[in-house]
Amino acid sequence: MRVIECSTRDEAAELVAGEILRALQAKPDLVLGLATGSTPVGVYERLVAAHCAGDADFSEVRTFNLDEYVGLSALHPQSYRTFMREHLFGSIQIQDHNVRFPPVDGFDLRAACEQYERAIVDAGGIDIQLLGIGSNGHIGFNEPTSSLASRTRVKTLTDKTLGDNARFYKEGEMQPELATTMGIGTILEAKRILLQSFGEKKADAIHAAVEGPISSFWPASALQLHPDTAIYVDAGSAARLTMRDYYRRVERNERGMSS
Ligand code: F6R
Repeated sequence: MRVIECSTRDEAAELVAGEILRALQAKPDLVLGLATGSTPVGVYERLVAAHCAGDADFSEVRTFNLDEYVGLSALHPQSYRTFMREHLFGSIQIQDHNVRFPPVDGFDLRAACEQYERAIVDAGGIDIQLLGIGSNGHIGFNEPTSSLASRTRVKTLTDKTLGDNARFYKEGEMQPELATTMGIGTILEAKRILLQSFGEKKADAIHAAVEGPISSFWPASALQLHPDTAIYVDAGSAARLTMRDYYRRVERNERGMSS
């Protein structure tokens, strides 16, 4: 696991977007696992800018989103399908049939979740999975105590997550407490994982994810089992890391080796 401390969110977004754009050049039908929320917005802005400048072609890219709320229609302003349309899909000429979200309705949700898993495998697996992290350490909507081997399924959101995300809802607006999410086992099968975290509110979660014992109580700690994960943090999110100087030194050496 590499920990890359950035001076600003913009620097992190630049590095993450740069990696995705390089991967896209090498593989035009790249398979991306995507996150929503405030964290990836800077990355999406850069992908859109690259597309508008004619530097990135998304026409063959396949995407799988991490999660979606149960009970919101695709057009609901708070649905993650709306979020993705507004922040990325609406501006990059991606093909509709190449965009997938975890199922949130239908007769047999369990079977639909299994089908989502199969679709990921049929696409050849996720090349790059983008992640944010909850202040309780969740990845996707795998809340604390989620099985580290879990697959795509419906989860009940914790009060902590509902409270953190209440900022996106107007007073009195219905906030769903169920979501379908890729499982931790699903996420760990991605070939490369890029997690970003900003702000001191997430410092405990980042500390537990990077330096804590692997525990379902801090779901992101499962990433320690993944062979190719990079964690981009600002100073706020890095505040509780005990080996911060070491991580900086590792990055200096990595840069030295690749130049
Ligand atoms: C969203 C997701 C969540 C968020 C996390 C952080 O698709 O999977 O795990 O990444 O809740 O949210 P923000 O970025 O809004 O702080």
